[in-house]
Amino acid sequence: MEKIIDEKQQGNSLVIEPKTENKRKLFIESYGCQMNFSDSEIVASILSKEGYNTTQKLEEADLVLVNTCSIREKAELTVRKRLEKYNAVKRINPKMKVGVLGCMAERLKSKFLEEEKIVDLVVGPDAYKDLPNLISEVEEGRNAVNVILSKEETYGDVSPVRLQSNGVSAFVSITRGCDNMCTFCVVPFTRGRERSRDPQSIIKEVNDLAEKGFKEITLLGQNVDSYLWYGGGMKKDFEKASPMQKATATDFATLLKLVAEAQPKMRVRFSTSNPQDMTLDAIEMMEKYPNICNSIHLPVQSGSDRMLQKMNRLHTREEYFNLIDNIRKLIPDCGISHDLITGFPTETEEDHQDTISLMKYVKYHFGFMFAYSERPGTMAARKFEDDIPAEIKQRRLAEIVALQREHSQYRTQQYIGKTVEVLIEKSSKKSDAHWSGRTSQNTVAVFPKENYKVGEFVNVKVKDCTSATLICDPIGYSDNN
Ligand code: SAH
Ligand code: F3S
Repeated sequence: MEKIIDEKQQGNSLVIEPKTENKRKLFIESYGCQMNFSDSEIVASILSKEGYNTTQKLEEADLVLVNTCSIREKAELTVRKRLEKYNAVKRINPKMKVGVLGCMAERLKSKFLEEEKIVDLVVGPDAYKDLPNLISEVEEGRNAVNVILSKEETYGDVSPVRLQSNGVSAFVSITRGCDNMCTFCVVPFTRGRERSRDPQSIIKEVNDLAEKGFKEITLLGQNVDSYLWYGGGMKKDFEKASPMQKATATDFATLLKLVAEAQPKMRVRFSTSNPQDMTLDAIEMMEKYPNICNSIHLPVQSGSDRMLQKMNRLHTREEYFNLIDNIRKLIPDCGISHDLITGFPTETEEDHQDTISLMKYVKYHFGFMFAYSERPGTMAARKFEDDIPAEIKQRRLAEIVALQREHSQYRTQQYIGKTVEVLIEKSSKKSDAHWSGRTSQNTVAVFPKENYKVGEFVNVKVKDCTSATLICDPIGYSDNN
């Protein structure tokens, strides 16, 4: 259970190719969702032009930036703990400056400076281009805060600095913000209104990545299916766009096609899909283009219609099943994963059983499961009492985690004896003699290294499995190399 939950919350620092003329050292680490990791690459790029190279040694940093997550209380507590560590280091290195980025910065604003004396700088997710100015202020001895949310900012013109350790897969952000207002969720408050990025700048970034040898990209957004480019601006203003803008707008299905055609040898993934916005067109594109991976992350949050409504998820259990059926009809071997929450206000045993029966219907490949955590300022916090005791939330969570493990095992077992294509990403954690990569369905596969290399597509035969991993033997290169 812990493993599943921790996966999204683990801190990770970046290593980038240093510029020799840069003299200052930046330590930047990220917590939370993939978007934060992607944003940190944008920040590293902006600061690289300001004379900063990244370092992995906290002790030698001139500037420490932590990109934070507010999604659950636990995520915020993790960051507070990290600040204590920075505090200890600052005693040895008093010149070190500390900045907080991301969702906690946006949520707490200047209150952060009062609550945590170690913090010099507070910058929200739409204000990273202001970092050079803000850092100058900090250097002159003043604290600096910019948490203004933007109607347009997509950082489309910043080419992110990439993690060099893998060099195989990269994130490409396509939308920012979220307009959905799920009642439990803090994201619409911390990341603002939904905006889409110019498809031309997305394609340019994808082409650049291909040139640098990357083999897989993941298009990122809080709700990718809602992607809509009509010349810039907020999604909610699309109605006011000119007839010309409307006629030439690019939606998510079209973007998928553009990206898949721009780099037919590159694997294309996307995350996250919201059931209420996912269209048949997008699924048809997945079917049509072999390089679009057969994998959909489709959070459902609950299997109970009553809970879905209370969460302001704008679909029913039945509609979700229809969507699953349509996906399976067009892409029978599609990997489907989920997010689920237990113990949302007023959740009964019956609601919980609805979640269990929904899981049994779909038999997800894997999922991220959470106990409900009330977030200040959200609709749920304002309107509903957080009335499910922690033990009940945890017991229900343990039940769905155990069920998911059974389903994951069922899914991996289906592959035994079959041949699948794997893109090699890194050495297996368990054995240096084995490679680790993923299948199109996003399932991890390991196999003996032989003479294969990171970044190659290999056909492998599945001989055994755990609930999370396919254990395989390599057969040969796939046609995709
Ligand atoms: N669309 C987003 C969802 C962001 S939050 C994405 O790109 O992934 C990720 C998951 O965290 C949600 O799907 C939900 O299952 C969980 N979550 C969000 N708010 C939560 C809360 N207040 N308590 C518990 N889990 C929460
Ligand atoms: Fe949050 Fe719902 Fe958007 S979970 S990120 S408000 S789709």
